[in-house]
Amino acid sequence: MPASLVLVGAGKMGGAMLAGWLDAGLDPAATRVIDPNPAPEIAALCAARGIALNPASREPAAVVVLAIKPQGLEAAAPGLSGLLGPDGLLVSILAGKTVADLRARLPEAGAVVRAMPNLPASIGRGATGAVASSDVTDAQRALADALLAASGHVEWLEAEAAMDAVTAVSGSGPAYVFHLVEALAEAGVAAGLAPETARRLARATVTGAGALLEASPLEAAELRRNVTSPGGTTAAALDVLMRADGLTALMREAVAAAKDRAGELAG
Ligand SMILES: NC(=O)c1ccc[n+]([C@@H]2O[C@H](COP(=O)([O-])OP(=O)(O)OC[C@H]3O[C@@H](n4cnc5c(N)ncnc54)[C@H](OP(=O)(O)O)[C@@H]3O)[C@@H](O)[C@H]2O)c1
Repeated sequence: MPASLVLVGAGKMGGAMLAGWLDAGLDPAATRVIDPNPAPEIAALCAARGIALNPASREPAAVVVLAIKPQGLEAAAPGLSGLLGPDGLLVSILAGKTVADLRARLPEAGAVVRAMPNLPASIGRGATGAVASSDVTDAQRALADALLAASGHVEWLEAEAAMDAVTAVSGSGPAYVFHLVEALAEAGVAAGLAPETARRLARATVTGAGALLEASPLEAAELRRNVTSPGGTTAAALDVLMRADGLTALMREAVAAAKDRAGELAG
């Protein structure tokens, strides 16, 4: 954990990350939180752990984590002056804001790590893509990795251009899985189940399959093959899902649409 950290924006994601860092050993006395209207839970957490909330101090920190809404960057930027010293690292989770955008708004920013977490990061089970600017040192990258890993799995990318694809796969991905639950439940109703029964079965099936995938060393394809007896019921369903215009083709189209949209929204 860094020697000193400032969290700017303690909303859903920032607040959850803060809780994860404290569990991972971040020193509360070396932590500052800036949020003009903190939620009561954040104010209570800061008071209980001795974290400075909206302090007057503008002393530079080893790491500044930006977790405000992307559209708030311009308004927030002047208030961040002084927090980033020459050796400081900026970690941003702002969707669509490139390293160049961040540097344009925050002239003091040197070393920058840009990260894209996803919703399950709020319960420590996220999938985060991250990219480091060329001037990020190995030590800074290790610090950023530790901070991001407190929210779940982290993938480091070589090129920032891959960020739109990360947004389309893991950033938006939880919604695709939620929709899978909806579709499975709807198909269950069409097959004759009561709606509530279908909903509960679909939900438990997806969460159970996810837990099994996590617990198993096997790849998803192998787990699928292991439950598919030739000529059986699962094989009959997979013949439909895996045909040329099936789920793979649809998912490719969906991810491409999300990636294109991420590119349009950037800036
Ligand atoms: N939620 C996700 O699943 C997710 C996934 C990937 C990336 N992200 C990124 O995470 C960032 C935060 O998202 P979120 O869902 O956590 O949003 P959020 O709940 O709205 O949190 C943002 C927080 O920043 C505060 N804030 C606003 N202006 C500020 C300022 N000038 N200085 C300090 N704090 C300020 C907000 O206060 P007010 O409420 O009073 O405005 C709010 O508490 C976004 O940039 C988003 O792109 C989120």
